[in-house]
Amino acid sequence: MTTEYRHLGSAGVRVSSLCLGTMMFGGPTEEAESIRIIHRALDEGINFLDTANVYNGGASETVVGKALKGRRESVVLATKVRGNTGDGPNDRGTSAYHIMMAVENSLRRLDTDHIDLYLLHRHEPETPIEESLEALDRLVQQGKVRYIGCSNFDGWQLCQALWTSDRRNLARFVAVQPLYNIVNRDIEMELLPCCGEYGVGVMAYSPLARGVLSGKYGTGEQFPEGSRAARADRRILETEVRAESFEVATRLKPIADRHGRTMTQFALNWVISNALVTAAIIGPRTMAQLEDNLGAVGWSIDDDALDEIDQLVPPGEHTGKGFPDPSRPFTGRPRRPS
Ligand SMILES: NC(=O)c1ccc[n+]([C@@H]2O[C@H](COP(=O)([O-])OP(=O)(O)OC[C@H]3O[C@@H](n4cnc5c(N)ncnc54)[C@H](OP(=O)(O)O)[C@@H]3O)[C@@H](O)[C@H]2O)c1
Repeated sequence: MTTEYRHLGSAGVRVSSLCLGTMMFGGPTEEAESIRIIHRALDEGINFLDTANVYNGGASETVVGKALKGRRESVVLATKVRGNTGDGPNDRGTSAYHIMMAVENSLRRLDTDHIDLYLLHRHEPETPIEESLEALDRLVQQGKVRYIGCSNFDGWQLCQALWTSDRRNLARFVAVQPLYNIVNRDIEMELLPCCGEYGVGVMAYSPLARGVLSGKYGTGEQFPEGSRAARADRRILETEVRAESFEVATRLKPIADRHGRTMTQFALNWVISNALVTAAIIGPRTMAQLEDNLGAVGWSIDDDALDEIDQLVPPGEHTGKGFPDPSRPFTGRPRRPS
């Protein structure tokens, strides 16, 4: 692999264009194998790691902490806060109360004295963004966090947060973490232009549409043994397992073949070939998948192929029109008063 490093938006820090996602680690991927995968990725020059306090009940952060023993200083380590960590009313969310508690737990599990990039995992309408930003700013002042960011925010939500930081002289988001792949191009409409305008880095998650773009699923076929769909993962079953996405995957195969690449390498390269995207967050479950994913960099997709992809899924659109995508709840939908 030819490692490419890019600035995280307008921030000075440089990260590899493949970020290693660790959502499988300490869960479907057992600890020893997870550590081997992390070390292999670091050896290949990947310096960007993504986890979250809720992945596998905290086990992902614990595994990452163990793997980074002695190697912490060469890594840009990202983790997130907001998901449920318990049954109490404040065991979740983006309140100052929860953030200040959650960060201590993440630091302990990660076995580190600082987090390089701390992200709000999702927008939370019930908590004023001022409150969350003030808490994050305090963590930056305390040296516990280097940079801050957000995940699953819409364009207007990011813009509101950036303006709030500017108005109140608080640390501002340097990166966003949205879902982005060939079968879901929604963020090209609002979020990506907003990031370009404001110099915000983009780390795209689920670049393989949770595995669908590997081409291993087919309409009417049984899910391959051990795959995410076969494990009845709720997210893939609700969003990506649909005939339209399988069809796109089928049509990608000859285009990837023409480039002499696997479908996964092609789909990952497509994500990072967008000039507004900083990194694709890969999510290998096995060492073989990592080895394959590493081949996504160091080459370019030709212009004809980019046009062909635009024909398959037009810019700004996703497959299965009208299909509600739970990754991006439509918050403007009229609701009955509760
Ligand atoms: N911020 C958020 O809300 C959010 C949400 C989701 C993920 N993330 C982050 O993004 C990272 C990546 O997300 P993701 O796992 O959904 O990414 P993805 O790249 O779309 O899917 C990865 C999955 O695809 C399958 N796969 C990968 N390489 C393969 C290959 N060569 N052949 C066949 N199958 C292959 C594996 O699933 P199988 O088990 O089927 O083999 C693997 O776990 C996560 O680790 C996490 O850090 C963030």
